[in-house]
Amino acid sequence: MNEGPTELSEARIAALLRTARYGRVLEVHEELDSTMDRARQLADAGAADGTTVLADAQTRGRGSQGRVWRSPGGSDLYLSIVARPILSPGWRPFVSLAVGLGVAEAAERLSGGVRAEVKWPNDVRLRGKKCAGILVEARSVGERFDLVIGIGLDVNRREWDAELADVAISIAEARADRAPVDRGEAFAVLLETVERSVDELVNFGPRAIVPRVDERLALRGEPVRCDDLRGVLEGIAASGGILVRNATGLHERIAGRLELDG
Ligand code: BTN
Repeated sequence: MNEGPTELSEARIAALLRTARYGRVLEVHEELDSTMDRARQLADAGAADGTTVLADAQTRGRGSQGRVWRSPGGSDLYLSIVARPILSPGWRPFVSLAVGLGVAEAAERLSGGVRAEVKWPNDVRLRGKKCAGILVEARSVGERFDLVIGIGLDVNRREWDAELADVAISIAEARADRAPVDRGEAFAVLLETVERSVDELVNFGPRAIVPRVDERLALRGEPVRCDDLRGVLEGIAASGGILVRNATGLHERIAGRLELDG
């Protein structure tokens, strides 16, 4: 394993962490294809709950729906957490909302209090632009259930590919003072808020998560489309899906790609 830059050294991060489990077993790499693949290898080999893989850069970062996650070095955070929450099957679909909530709380804190929103199901936005993406890959074999939680958080990036320039933002760009953020501290805050949010789901169930995502919901009251469904976004349902109203009534969708319509 190659140690990443000094800012992200394992020893420095160990001193900054405030978690019980997340990041307590940690690999830091200068470069990986994807932290998802390394974390999956570790999960399959029996890694403990909270084992985390962090890379300064990724050469084949994966986004949702088969997209690429651009992962240049030196500015942002790319990490995957092996998680083994003890959850009844009915609560498992809520993990990705819980992670989105935890990431939003971290983004808000790191940006100095700029309101962070969740674009359903789990993109995190500051000032109307995406600052983080989340990919949760679950595997269940019999009683065993494990997850790899992947998070890409744009911390200090200021230069974007043309297709991202209007839709993406880093924490530093969102801050009122536009000051760079220490990535070691950002990592510690992120793991703290995500661990807490997943633990709240484990301990109290979806009712501890859904209303708080609803409070932070992006695009509420806006015309949206979710695959074939079009209408105005009203909120999040108890199922964790979205509620969209149109001329034929109120409709619920539990999966799909939500976009502003028009
Ligand atoms: C999205 O498309 O919004 C999800 C992006 C998830 C990116 C993160 S970066 C760390 C981890 N490794 C990957 O290859 N993808 C996830």
